[in-house]
Amino acid sequence: MNAKEAAARRAVESVQSGMVVGLGTGSTAVYAIQAIGERILTEGLDLRGVPTSQRSEDLARQVGIPLVDFSQVVSIDITIDGADEVGSDLTLIKGGGGALVQEKIVASASRQLIIICDTSKIKKTLGAYPLPIAIVRFGWQATLRKLELFGHPLTLRCNADGSPFLSDDGLYIIDMHCGEISEPRKYERAINEIVGVSEVGLFVGLATSVIVGHDDGMVETLLPPNAY
Ligand code: A5P
Repeated sequence: MNAKEAAARRAVESVQSGMVVGLGTGSTAVYAIQAIGERILTEGLDLRGVPTSQRSEDLARQVGIPLVDFSQVVSIDITIDGADEVGSDLTLIKGGGGALVQEKIVASASRQLIIICDTSKIKKTLGAYPLPIAIVRFGWQATLRKLELFGHPLTLRCNADGSPFLSDDGLYIIDMHCGEISEPRKYERAINEIVGVSEVGLFVGLATSVIVGHDDGMVETLLPPNAY
């Protein structure tokens, strides 16, 4: 079992019958969705899933997870999702797969957000990974000019054929190459204040735990500083 799968399987142990479970997006979340499907099959677990992207929805259907429309639930018991970077206080960069808006809405509605990752995602300081920012297509060049004021190189995320990448929500993704983000909360607020920005991939104060898988299959659980 690889590190991502080990983390995913440990997180899925927290899932119980009767729960509404947020289903994350990305290569690590795939293992969690598969493991939930396995538990439904072998243990008869009775739960409902809320996917954070079309691809997670497709996989959930394939593995037999009953889904519920997000509009029909008041809160989500547990969301299990991956991350691109995890800082020391469990602040996250997410959105490498372009699903940050749905991921953040689902995470914000969740009682528990369990992040699963391998050791490569654990960082002292965030920002080496380009910060994804989802923006509305209308007037996107004007939004880009405002983002330029942060002083970091920006790239419009594109598909292999050079066309702009579109999120499931029909948004463009700008990747901001910060290098280092020393004050994530400040950045989150300042970027989200710009007209045309839908959401930035900084998740501050949302993760309730991070399960880190190691190459030997061992896992460790990190908790936010105020949880100790
Ligand atoms: C999807 O938009 C992202 O937020 C993913 O959760 C993140 O990119 C982690 O993906 P991997 O598990 O594939 O590294």
